[in-house]
Amino acid sequence: MASLRTATAEASPNIALIKYWGDVDHALRLPANGSISMTLGGLSTVTRVTFDPTIDRDSLLLGGEPAGPAALERVARHLDVLRAHAGLDGHARVESTNNFPSGAGVASSASAFAALTLAALTAAGIAESSESLSRLARRGSGSACRSIMGGFAEWRAGTGDADSFATQLAPGEHWALVDLVAVISAAPKAIGSTEGHRLAATSPLQAARVADAPRRLSQCREAILRRDFDALAEVVELDSLMMHAVMMTSTPPLLYWMPTTVEILQAVASWRRGGLGVCATIDAGPNVHCLCEPGAAPAVEGALASVPGVERVLACPPGGPARVLHPAS
Ligand code: DP6
Repeated sequence: MASLRTATAEASPNIALIKYWGDVDHALRLPANGSISMTLGGLSTVTRVTFDPTIDRDSLLLGGEPAGPAALERVARHLDVLRAHAGLDGHARVESTNNFPSGAGVASSASAFAALTLAALTAAGIAESSESLSRLARRGSGSACRSIMGGFAEWRAGTGDADSFATQLAPGEHWALVDLVAVISAAPKAIGSTEGHRLAATSPLQAARVADAPRRLSQCREAILRRDFDALAEVVELDSLMMHAVMMTSTPPLLYWMPTTVEILQAVASWRRGGLGVCATIDAGPNVHCLCEPGAAPAVEGALASVPGVERVLACPPGGPARVLHPAS
């Protein structure tokens, strides 16, 4: 009997400090602008991939339950990319579990496609550089290319498939930032990121956002390298608001914020005026990620938890890179 090729990998989600919003090539997930993120420690997806010559289609279990057709289709399409790369043609069983509830308000596609990419290639017996893994993970979910890296990562937009991938800007130990995620609503999004990227170009503000991206990227990169919290706070908040301005002015418009989202944005601004080092950034949903240094974290966490409408607060330090848990057998 042919032996099963199997491997398990783990990856963490990430919070974008400079956002990816809009593609120049949707199929290849080539972004309109580069982005920078912090990988989130303590949260992870663990994925096992088993290439099994006896099965005639791919299968997907999410948290032990068979996945719906849309999730399975997206994973099968990504497996096709990985199979073509690895020169394999067998189908695979994929079993994936998040250690954070899917309703926790943290997007799981970044950790999911980073873990899937690493597990599948390891199962196929292929060892890749982290740059190559990142480039392949990008095909499954753009932000997944950053989750291959630990600590702080920068995804350079590149000019094509070959040069669009993330590299590590600094390891997590460089700067012990904390991301306090104020979870406001666990409800699934009406319009997800993949569709949102397609709408970005319909906003008259997108061209200006993209044109100014090199300046924001450089300010953010420098702030991280110098551990300059005030400079980071300024550019992170500007970049998040610019992305949401594009979302709100696309056709159809996307308004991800809830009343509590705005309440937290205003509270964070007043805490900062009062001397607390904290800033806010929001991905494609209502939840607010509040970044601060460890000394400010207990005060910020307590204040966030007492805002009416906040369901829970997750505290995430910088996380590690995607890693193999069991080598291919
Ligand atoms: C707002 O990477 O989730 O979180 O490639 O379609 O999976 P797909 O999109 P995704 O988009 C991320 C959007 C964002 C900003 C960011 O993470 O940079």
